[in-house]
Amino acid sequence: MPGITVHDLYEAYPDFDVDVRREQALLAAHDVLVVQCPFYWYSTPALVKQWQDLVLEHGWAYGREGTALTGKCWLQIVSAGGGANAYTPGGRNRMSVAQLLAPLENTALLCRMQWLPPHVIHGTHAMTPTDIEAEAVRYRGLLASLVQGARQELQA
Ligand SMILES: Cc1cc2nc3c(=O)[nH]c(=O)nc-3n(C[C@H](O)[C@H](O)[C@H](O)COP(=O)(O)O)c2cc1C
Repeated sequence: MPGITVHDLYEAYPDFDVDVRREQALLAAHDVLVVQCPFYWYSTPALVKQWQDLVLEHGWAYGREGTALTGKCWLQIVSAGGGANAYTPGGRNRMSVAQLLAPLENTALLCRMQWLPPHVIHGTHAMTPTDIEAEAVRYRGLLASLVQGARQELQA
């Protein structure tokens, strides 16, 4: 999709040796950070955490002089094995995925970014090819509206 850069962290850094300057340059060049990953133990896979620990440096991403990300948006996309019912107060996981993502939300806010409502794909274990196709269309629509919104903002 034009206007979107796809960057696969596990492909780029299979040994977890994240190139901090390259990642910071990528962030600086984009308006919206979309972090797409499966839900692992109510959180992100390890490399996404490693990326945060190394790339979001004090004095760059946060702190008095850390303003590189100010005003950019963070959109978290999560595919979860558990169904939507499991992520309700009476359900097996007690909390919603959005609630469980609080550490990421706070990270975004500390970096003066705008935290967008997370996009969750529930029940991946039971999805049929038709379900997957429908989710792909929904996801594509969300990305298209983000690109469109960014373009409109640039033109305004
Ligand atoms: C190590 C590991 C931890 C997982 N933890 C969770 C979890 O906490 N909650 C959940 O709903 N699913 C969990 N799952 C299931 C994954 O979220 C599910 O397989 C994922 O949606 C697959 O997405 P993908 O097809 O994009 O890889 C876990 C799977 C693995 C392998």
